[in-house]
Amino acid sequence: MITIKSEREIELMREAGKLVSLMHQFIRPYIKEGITTKELDQLCEEFILSHGGVPSCKGYEGFPCALCTSVNEEVVHGIPSDRALKNGDIITIDVVIGYKGYQGDAAWTYAVGEVTEEDSYLMEHTEKALYEGLKMIKPGNRIGDISHAIEEYATEHHLGIVRELCGHGIGKEMHEDPEVLNYGPPNTGARLKPGMVICVEPMLTFGKRFVNLLEDDWTVVTTDGSKAAHYEHTILITEDGYEILTPQLD
Ligand code: MF3
Ligand code: CO
Repeated sequence: MITIKSEREIELMREAGKLVSLMHQFIRPYIKEGITTKELDQLCEEFILSHGGVPSCKGYEGFPCALCTSVNEEVVHGIPSDRALKNGDIITIDVVIGYKGYQGDAAWTYAVGEVTEEDSYLMEHTEKALYEGLKMIKPGNRIGDISHAIEEYATEHHLGIVRELCGHGIGKEMHEDPEVLNYGPPNTGARLKPGMVICVEPMLTFGKRFVNLLEDDWTVVTTDGSKAAHYEHTILITEDGYEILTPQLD
């Protein structure tokens, strides 16, 4: 069932989203060679708690940390560890924060120092694929229109689309209906209505689209070792389009 949020719920989801945005803004300057992913996680967890938020990933189906930190060929759900970032790495920070009972969710891929032209291309066009998907969001359009726009953009740019994972509705729960796939035919799926809130999150690879699950049972990596990028926003569907609840702050 896809829930329609009330004005009051929307206001709380805006606040949850704002906290997600603030956390990304807070952590950005720390993403440098030498810092470990566990240190990033600890900084973010303290930030979330000190702002009255709940680190919703921690304990979710047994996930141990506040952040998912996915480096290079890791696509999603990387577990923070003693791994230190190196110049030239790319790292996706994905976080879900609960605030007064509502969830906000956003992922962003960051460059560590100087990255290759290929990595910049991957990051740039994964982000753009997200925005191509968002352009389709207005009442009356359908979920499949978003999926198709992302697929078309990614394919035109020769990037692999990871199919095993997808976006989702969000609200009191981190994962609600509907699923928001990153590929598929237009004019299919649920119709978008004002008051729905969804997460749109293309996960694209520089090589083949295939992935494996590591033995930790969480980390998803590309099978061919190619790098992956992931951009995600929490989006409110409005009367005439959409509002990004997790805007990127400078
Ligand atoms: N942010 C992820 C998503 O978009 C979920 C994190 S998985 C968790 O669905 F287990 F760590 F919570
Ligand atoms: Co999500």
